Amino acid sequence: VVEVTVEKLIYGGLGLAHDGGRALFIPLAAPGDRLRVRIIEEKKGYAIAAIEEVLEFSTSRREPPCPYYGICGGCQLQHLSYPAQLQAKVDFIRESLSRIGGIERPHLIQIIHGQEFNYRLRAELKLRTAGDHVQFGYYRPASHDLCEIDHCPLLSTALNDALDRLRAWPAPLFAGTQTIDLAQGQDGQIVTYPLVERNEISEVCWQVDQFTYWFDAQAFFQVNQFLLQDMLKLVVEGEEGDRALDLFCGVGFFSIPLAGHFKTVIGVESDQRAIWFAARNAADNQATNCRLEADSVEHWFVKKGARLESMDLVVVDPPRAGLSKRTAKAVVQLKPERVTYVSCNPTTLARDLKWFLEGGYTISAITALDLFPQTFHVETIVKLHR
Ligand SMILES: C[S@@+](CC[C@H](N)C(=O)[O-])C[C@H]1O[C@@H](n2cnc3c(N)ncnc32)[C@H](O)[C@@H]1O
Repeated sequence: VVEVTVEKLIYGGLGLAHDGGRALFIPLAAPGDRLRVRIIEEKKGYAIAAIEEVLEFSTSRREPPCPYYGICGGCQLQHLSYPAQLQAKVDFIRESLSRIGGIERPHLIQIIHGQEFNYRLRAELKLRTAGDHVQFGYYRPASHDLCEIDHCPLLSTALNDALDRLRAWPAPLFAGTQTIDLAQGQDGQIVTYPLVERNEISEVCWQVDQFTYWFDAQAFFQVNQFLLQDMLKLVVEGEEGDRALDLFCGVGFFSIPLAGHFKTVIGVESDQRAIWFAARNAADNQATNCRLEADSVEHWFVKKGARLESMDLVVVDPPRAGLSKRTAKAVVQLKPERVTYVSCNPTTLARDLKWFLEGGYTISAITALDLFPQTFHVETIVKLHR
């Protein structure tokens, strides 16, 4: 057991402190806390420690509003005031850019946020049947043990209501099911996968500005209902030209509005369901100049080879793993005037940005969006030009 002061939070949400020369990572700590901690796991170059006692509380602490906080693995930052969470996220981005990407951004990175609770329009819940009862919840931190929940303060009211209804269904209906995906449409309609509710519809829609997007519980759609408009604006506003490429396009969230600003837009997406919705969304929104291709981005570049025409803008919005080096190089080889990188993981973003900077691109703006309040996750939109 040692006494330490927490210096800051690191990406992942753990507090960083030093005991002599050794770095300690401490869950549920706040920057400025004076703590008595117990070492629970020695790792190479650092140790994980658990709080035994808070000797002095950080001024950024608050009482976590959710009764499951600390037991449920879904959230990591609920014990911080919301402004402190936002600051921590800007620091995660700055720190990743500097440490991994070698990029120093001494000036402000703006962070845009919406409501801090009830923001999720989609969720993936874990479930377990116990006799004739079904338990829904999330995994506990760093485990596959279920933390049963009655409701989740991150979910929209409609999703929490849906959870109540699901709980009332007979357990045998869920036999063999470990995960259930839920999504809410703008009118409050719910879709699930696998389908459970009787007479259930299988798709929902959401309108953002003048665009209507259809999707279902499986196809990707941005989760935070309060920031959809800001996201679109950040990516689309001020853009124009002949050709735009939207890599990892999902159901066409960016492709369709971009089609109003470019003569041609090409969207590439590997998930068949998502690209099917993208094509339908393009048709519904009269975006007839959108070409939507079902392929992995990596394979698509190989297939197209040297036959690819030049682009004015390339938007990339990859999953957490980021881009492969080959994809980043293929984008650079296209020599687009501008690249917009939409990232949900600052560490892979920082790694990938290096390839663009080496390829002759300069960062013109970095904006963070708090799409995932109460968790350590953060979205970053980086605009680059050649
Ligand atoms: C973060 S989402 C972004 C979707 C879209 N841009 C949006 O805003 O809704 C990433 C998307 O990439 C797709 N994806 C994952 N790996 C891929 C790959 N190797 N090639 C193409 N698409 C991929 C996923 O199915 C998902 O739809």
